[in-house]
Amino acid sequence: MVNNAGLSLSKSLLETTAKDWDLQHNVMAKGSFLVSKTAAKALIDQGLGGDILYISSKNSVFAGPNNIAYSATKADQAHQVRLLAAELGEHQIRVNGINPDGVVQGSGIFSSGWGANRAKTYGIEEKDLGRFYAQRTILKREVLPENVANAAFALVSSDLSHTTGLHVPVDAGVAAAFLR
Ligand SMILES: NC(=O)c1ccc[n+]([C@@H]2O[C@H](COP(=O)([O-])OP(=O)(O)OC[C@H]3O[C@@H](n4cnc5c(N)ncnc54)[C@H](O)[C@@H]3O)[C@@H](O)[C@H]2O)c1
Repeated sequence: MVNNAGLSLSKSLLETTAKDWDLQHNVMAKGSFLVSKTAAKALIDQGLGGDILYISSKNSVFAGPNNIAYSATKADQAHQVRLLAAELGEHQIRVNGINPDGVVQGSGIFSSGWGANRAKTYGIEEKDLGRFYAQRTILKREVLPENVANAAFALVSSDLSHTTGLHVPVDAGVAAAFLR
């Protein structure tokens, strides 16, 4: 089961309303709690083990401005990974996460206004945003949806059968979001 549903409201602390906070936390922190709970029940009943994945974010680690509600709920999701890995291991259920950054291509979050907003902030055209983000990374590579999918596949494959409670960054290298 993959906890992927999400949305992003990027606002400063003073602009963020209690409604914004609730929406972000209801969809991501509470939503993934409820879905993980339902999935875990089915997996425990089946007795075959299984995988729960969280698509968290670089922002669960990175402390950038104007992101209080989104980043806080991503940090909540990231800790759910560790908590559930510890709790569900006895049922051979592995719980891992992925921390992507700046996946512009194919993203509803970016295409529904967030991308235009970011492009304006940086003084570039929206179509150049992916390449712009790439230049901020260590590897200078744009992160594509398939890079996230490949990490998900690796985490649920038998190659990583002994790994649980891990977050894999898929961000082309962002030193400020290195896990310590
Ligand atoms: N795009 C990025 O740069 C990026 C970076 C880090 C993390 N993420 C995370 O990756 C995940 C996918 O994001 P994306 O960029 O592909 O955006 P997206 O908008 O393409 O996908 C998000 C999906 O969540 C669904 N969703 C939203 N609210 C829902 C609800 N209440 N119930 C059920 N489904 C709901 C939407 O319908 C949509 O299909 C999100 O959790 C996002 O926070 C994205």
